[in-house]
Amino acid sequence: MELLYRTPIEWAQNAVKDIDSFLQDHADAERKVANMCLSLIAKYPNRTEIIDELIQISVEELLHFKQVYNLIKYRGNQLNGVFQKDPYIKGIMSIVRSGSDEIFMDRLIIASIAELRGSERFKLISKVVDDPKIAKFYANLHLQELEHIDSFIKMAKIYFDDELVDKRTQIILQKEAEISSSLPWRSAIH
Ligand SMILES: [Fe+2]
Ligand SMILES: [Fe+2]
Repeated sequence: MELLYRTPIEWAQNAVKDIDSFLQDHADAERKVANMCLSLIAKYPNRTEIIDELIQISVEELLHFKQVYNLIKYRGNQLNGVFQKDPYIKGIMSIVRSGSDEIFMDRLIIASIAELRGSERFKLISKVVDDPKIAKFYANLHLQELEHIDSFIKMAKIYFDDELVDKRTQIILQKEAEISSSLPWRSAIH
């Protein structure tokens, strides 16, 4: 799977200008992905084939949250309790169809594409951030998030035809490219 809009390096140069705000937003994002996996389990308890994998990803995302929290403390800060609205997630979720199966498929595809975007941007951050400890963290995280991209698509393909999932993925990738290319840059992952 490939993103249809490539984030320019200038985005990362802008994002790291306020690295503390970036870390706050990122911690929030990791915690939300862990929550999202748990909420899929709660909503679809009968989809037993994917529960182990969802638990595993949730654990990994929670570990990422812990690591980002540690970086926040390393920078001499604490979680600030400020939760910025994420216009990217709001925008991309607007494409979710109605109907139980359709919602389920779309959520898994969106999860996969969001991992892909996150992974792309973590790599860019690792290239431009001054602090070598933070740079190393983001270079590693880029690789770890790459693995989640396939996981979510594989889950979708357990329950739906490959072709159907691939077609829908292309449509959502287009929407995702429109959103990510048009949003103003902030010191945030999206
Ligand atoms: Fe993560
Ligand atoms: Fe992830």
